[in-house]
Amino acid sequence: MRLQACGVTSKWVPSEHKTSKLDPWYKWLIHSRHAGDPVERRLVLDETEHYADKVLATAQLVPGMTLADIGSGEGLIAFKAIGNTGPSLQVILTEISASLLAHARQFAIKKGVSNQCIFLECNAENLHGIPDASVDVVTTRAVLAYVADKKAALREFHRILKPGGRISLAEPIMMDEARATCGLKAAVDAEDLNGADPLLDLMHRWKAAQFPDTVSKMASCPMTNFSERDLVRFAQDNGFADIHMELHIDVRPFQVSSWEVFIASAPHPLAPTLEFILSNHFTSTERNQFEKVLRPLIEAGGLSVDDRVAYLTATRKS
Ligand SMILES: C[S@@+](CC[C@H](N)C(=O)[O-])C[C@H]1O[C@@H](n2cnc3c(N)ncnc32)[C@H](O)[C@@H]1O
Repeated sequence: MRLQACGVTSKWVPSEHKTSKLDPWYKWLIHSRHAGDPVERRLVLDETEHYADKVLATAQLVPGMTLADIGSGEGLIAFKAIGNTGPSLQVILTEISASLLAHARQFAIKKGVSNQCIFLECNAENLHGIPDASVDVVTTRAVLAYVADKKAALREFHRILKPGGRISLAEPIMMDEARATCGLKAAVDAEDLNGADPLLDLMHRWKAAQFPDTVSKMASCPMTNFSERDLVRFAQDNGFADIHMELHIDVRPFQVSSWEVFIASAPHPLAPTLEFILSNHFTSTERNQFEKVLRPLIEAGGLSVDDRVAYLTATRKS
């Protein structure tokens, strides 16, 4: 699998996204994270609602406040916050994806809450359109992982918060997926010297299409070049106080509704689906060999997943 440069926020984007005309963020959130399967969509929503509930529990919203949710996607956090806090909450939903903003706007109209919402198309690194010291709470979930200049984003969060205002965020920490992929590459490189294991090579090509597989690619990829400690440092460097970080690691059985859904879905918005990898980068013999081993494992629930999420809260000093 060749990894190619792109102009989204990462230099590291696989070829499926280089050639696709569809907005990768919209495409992933609305389709490829659950492959359009209703059972899988429910599983994914149960998981993401759990993260959103944790972000909102520490956001400490009360009626009358203004919340800015950065990288709002479908509006998971924004609409939950309105549901929890009531009709006097004002919410600013910001996105780089115009299609996701339009989607969230339609949902707000359908639910009768559009009078509480402002929709802004902007990058987390430059929240133009939101005045200084104008919001009570900033939330964000699974967004900074895709932002090239995270420190600039934290600077913007600080700028738009009123004195005493609060950030509450949750970010996936994906360094370990990349480290495991680097490990696969090292094993393949070592085997090249002594006769290759074809399965190891296929595993590496699968994972390397979705995560960086060298230390230098990790360093240039916004998804994998930061840890929870870096998030703490970015908050400190931008003058936040009362900083609290919790890293939650859950190792659990990998659940997916079927093999078909598994290969039609992707683990993050910038990754190609396994189906794309199998069709475009494997020969039919390689595909058969790979499926023969992986499919029974997936169908028996024999794989586990390591979930690492960093939850950060901090306040802007008054
Ligand atoms: C994994 S989704 C999470 C969406 C939403 N926060 C949620 O919890 O469901 C990542 C979102 O970040 C947005 N995004 C990516 N890069 C961004 C950036 N530089 N500034 C603002 N939003 C960004 C994408 O458009 C996408 O909606």
